[in-house]
Amino acid sequence: MNERDSEIMIQVLSAHGYSECFAEEEADLIILNTCSIRAKAEQKMMSKLGHLRRLKKKNPRLRICVAGCVAQQEQARIIKKMPHVDLVLGTQEIYKIGKLLAENKKSLVAANLSENYLIPKFIPDLTKTPYPAYKKFVTIMQGCNNYCTYCVVPHTRGREISRNAADILEEIEVLAAAKVKEITLLGQNVNSYGRTNCISPHPAYDFADLLRDAAKIKGIERLRFTTSNPRDLTEKMMLCFRDIPKLCRQFHLPVQAGSNRILKKMNRKYTAEKYLELVKKLKKYRPDIVLTTDVIVGFPGESEDDFEQTMAILEQVRFNGSFSFKYSDRPGTVSAKMADKVDEQTKGRRLARFQKRQDEICLEENQRLLGTVMPVMVEGFDGITLKTRAETNHLVHIPSSRNITPGEIIPAKITFAGQHALKGELR
Ligand code: 5AD
Ligand code: SF4
Repeated sequence: MNERDSEIMIQVLSAHGYSECFAEEEADLIILNTCSIRAKAEQKMMSKLGHLRRLKKKNPRLRICVAGCVAQQEQARIIKKMPHVDLVLGTQEIYKIGKLLAENKKSLVAANLSENYLIPKFIPDLTKTPYPAYKKFVTIMQGCNNYCTYCVVPHTRGREISRNAADILEEIEVLAAAKVKEITLLGQNVNSYGRTNCISPHPAYDFADLLRDAAKIKGIERLRFTTSNPRDLTEKMMLCFRDIPKLCRQFHLPVQAGSNRILKKMNRKYTAEKYLELVKKLKKYRPDIVLTTDVIVGFPGESEDDFEQTMAILEQVRFNGSFSFKYSDRPGTVSAKMADKVDEQTKGRRLARFQKRQDEICLEENQRLLGTVMPVMVEGFDGITLKTRAETNHLVHIPSSRNITPGEIIPAKITFAGQHALKGELR
């Protein structure tokens, strides 16, 4: 989401005469687009701001903008403690960045993230911001209404707001006309798209409808989306994996934990059994689907037995990959106030154990692909090797004597499988 927001700010600023440069020393404006999902991300921002203070001493013309979730939550602290910051920009204000800089405004952060906020119609002018553009993110919604007890997102991005369906489809058409081949639809919880505000002439229009409409756009060859909360996954959505060939056979479905007691404390509103049922259904509709997940270890109150259940669900589903994290207290969340915190050492031990087993499973699952032929999309060429991406999102390296245009899809035979990447040969 931040990656696309950064791109939006660049696209907005290009209309105000700015252009991108790639060395900090040459910049007149540096935007720190921040994340506060875990404490570590926030710490990174603070140290980066210290570095920028020194940079600004050398180049007084430099303006510094802090955007994103930390800006939203810590506006007052940033203004007070970081006088070298010129603009603090809230999460619902990014489209105004050009105007605010032109007016020398110090900050604009919506005090109460409004549920009446409408994501403005913004179709990027691609003639002004030429990007290497064979795959792109398209934001379809902002915020989240789920209030998982550990999660800062509803506090920093506000209530769930869906973007107008016509705007989304127009943006994808513009991208397709600029030769974009792959689109990833983005939202904190895409499965509830359209549920909370009216975004199309049909009140029942939902995420599955949007996927089907996006798939009709000529030139787009691959569709992906992220992220979904299993509790909002509908039959209609799962059927898209059966019915839409352009929808890549890859699904990132965060489970977070395997213990029903912990899932309940997390307010996830599904059980491990329900999750496994969804996996079974998905495999029925798309037998070769590849599943990845997010996991939190050491949530307050997590016992050894609870953690074993997270290990058990890893064995049952055999995820092809996962992002796993030590639980981290976030300001304003319910779990931050829970009493029975798990100590750092235990969290570290559990995380290492989970990741080690996940790596082994990745390798075992990847080795099953040996000898198969699969379509891969070219991403780049270094003179010896083509970097390509399979539908499953696996990176596939292919030795080649010639370049192939990024975005082209070619068949590759898998000849080597590592933990995190595959090797193949041209067919
Ligand atoms: N502590 C640790 N991990 C977290 N995530 C979200 N909030 C926290 C937190 N407080 C993880 C979840 C989510 C991913 C984006 O980040 O696994 O799916
Ligand atoms: Fe956070 Fe995702 Fe839960 Fe929403 S569904 S509160 S974004 S973890």
